[in-house]
Amino acid sequence: MGLRPAFLEPVLMPDALPRIPTDVTAQTLRSLEQCGDPRLLEIVSALVKHLHAFVREVRLTPDEWMTGIDFLTRTGQKCDAIRQEFILLSDVLGVSMTVDDVAHAEVPPNATESSALGPFYTDDAPEIEQGGTIARSGKGESVLVRGRVLDVRGEPIAGALVETWETDGEGLYDTQYANRVEPDYRGQLRTNAEGAFSFVAVKPVSYSIPTDGPAGEMLRATRRGTMRPAHLHLKVGAAGYRPLATSIYSAGDPFLFRDAVFGAKSSLVEEYRPAGEGAATHWILERDFVLADA
Ligand SMILES: [Fe+2]
Repeated sequence: MGLRPAFLEPVLMPDALPRIPTDVTAQTLRSLEQCGDPRLLEIVSALVKHLHAFVREVRLTPDEWMTGIDFLTRTGQKCDAIRQEFILLSDVLGVSMTVDDVAHAEVPPNATESSALGPFYTDDAPEIEQGGTIARSGKGESVLVRGRVLDVRGEPIAGALVETWETDGEGLYDTQYANRVEPDYRGQLRTNAEGAFSFVAVKPVSYSIPTDGPAGEMLRATRRGTMRPAHLHLKVGAAGYRPLATSIYSAGDPFLFRDAVFGAKSSLVEEYRPAGEGAATHWILERDFVLADA
């Protein structure tokens, strides 16, 4: 039969070389396969899938991508030790309250609802005595705030830490003043043996969130309002209970239904009542807080 002629041997053609894959979403997901942390893998994988789907859905152009990069860069550059533009951006995009919804999905219905922490919380609030004031410069109408911290069975929680902060009567947080030298319109105290607390503040006013950064730029571009309904922020915590970050909103405020950060909830709306002749403050606000078990 003889030898097989050379021209009948198969020739390796260029298109038989291994091809570099171009399915970028699948490649990105495969690149994460060595991640040893299951939760990190879940989060980053979902982030990649949603980001890629977003780009394809809106057919994001290179110029628009660069605009987004610039926007996020400037958002970061706007942040410093007391200015948190990223939290503000998360707030106005409804992300913060969505995180809050997810985190509190399992909380018993009689526990106090949570609300936006917001970008103005600081950890340097001074300790005050029961009945002491958080409004050291006194700009606004004074209000006595009092109530109790309870568990879901109605039992008082002694020694709970109550932190509170608000704007002054002009609608500005202390951190928005360039000459801030010490905390003001913020304070922290512990509940007594009956679970009770009281402090003096100023009656909250509705205010505009800061509009001098990228978050404000986005609100203007999308023709959105920048106002928040009047509210007093509180964080309440005690060992063995789920920490609570919430706010008390003022009844009748015109911005309750168009809060720029979507934080207002019906169960958190309260009336301020006049304290009456001869009282030490103009107003009284009474409100209890119920913590869920940890
Ligand atoms: Fe606020």
